[in-house]
Amino acid sequence: MFLVSFEGLDGSGKSTQAGLLAAWFRQQGLVVEMLREPGGTETSEHIRTLLLDPSQRIDPFAELLLFSAARAQLVSEKVRPLLEAGTVVICDRFFDSTTAYQGFGRELAEPAWLNAFHRQVTGGLVPHRTYLIDIEPDLARARRQARSEEDRMEASGRAFYGRVAEGYRWLAESEPDRVFRLDGAQSIESLAEAIRADAERLLAGTARSGSGNRRTP
Ligand code: ADP
Ligand code: TYD
Repeated sequence: MFLVSFEGLDGSGKSTQAGLLAAWFRQQGLVVEMLREPGGTETSEHIRTLLLDPSQRIDPFAELLLFSAARAQLVSEKVRPLLEAGTVVICDRFFDSTTAYQGFGRELAEPAWLNAFHRQVTGGLVPHRTYLIDIEPDLARARRQARSEEDRMEASGRAFYGRVAEGYRWLAESEPDRVFRLDGAQSIESLAEAIRADAERLLAGTARSGSGNRRTP
């Protein structure tokens, strides 16, 4: 049916909002699948383990290719078949993470190059809507400190996260029709309300095109 992605720094509150939106879509009678990146298939979860392992020293370009490999597998094995079956797919991260983390964070590649590359990786699939939970790196770090030890990406440092946040803001400015930027300092409920209001509009658009897969009550 359609693909929605959530983006933001680690600890920004993406997963919380993705879960709330999934519950709301289900209340509307839609079939919803939640996926995460990197991950979501057996192969992609193996790649995830490798990417997040703090004992690995991964070359930045190899890192870009591994995140993209995990995504190519997820799209062909899960996302496309689900969309074709009429499911709403909610992805906790998608290719904008690569632009923000590898493009801006690692200062590895120009956005235009990455944009063309992402389209090769996903066979042209672009999220219908992307919710960006925009948050200051220090606040995101404070929120994730409650969690266990740092993974390999989280050990990348403050300056890195500053560049990632800047990359996300650049994306929101470049693609305002797709990327909806929200102030992540708001309460969980205020964010959820803003996302729900936008999702209602998204659904109304879909309803007009007559597609969808509603569960019978
Ligand atoms: P992410 O998926 O982006 O890493 P999470 O959704 O796991 O982030 O949230 C990280 C932590 O911050 C969790 O403990 C969560 O309960 C909390 N949290 C999420 N959103 C908010 C918010 N808007 N205000 C305060 N705390 C939040
Ligand atoms: P994860 O635990 O899923 O994210 P979060 O902590 O936000 O819940 O970890 C995924 C990590 O990988 C996170 O640090 C972001 C990073 N990442 C990239 O650097 N590039 C990518 O393309 C993707 C999908 C993730």
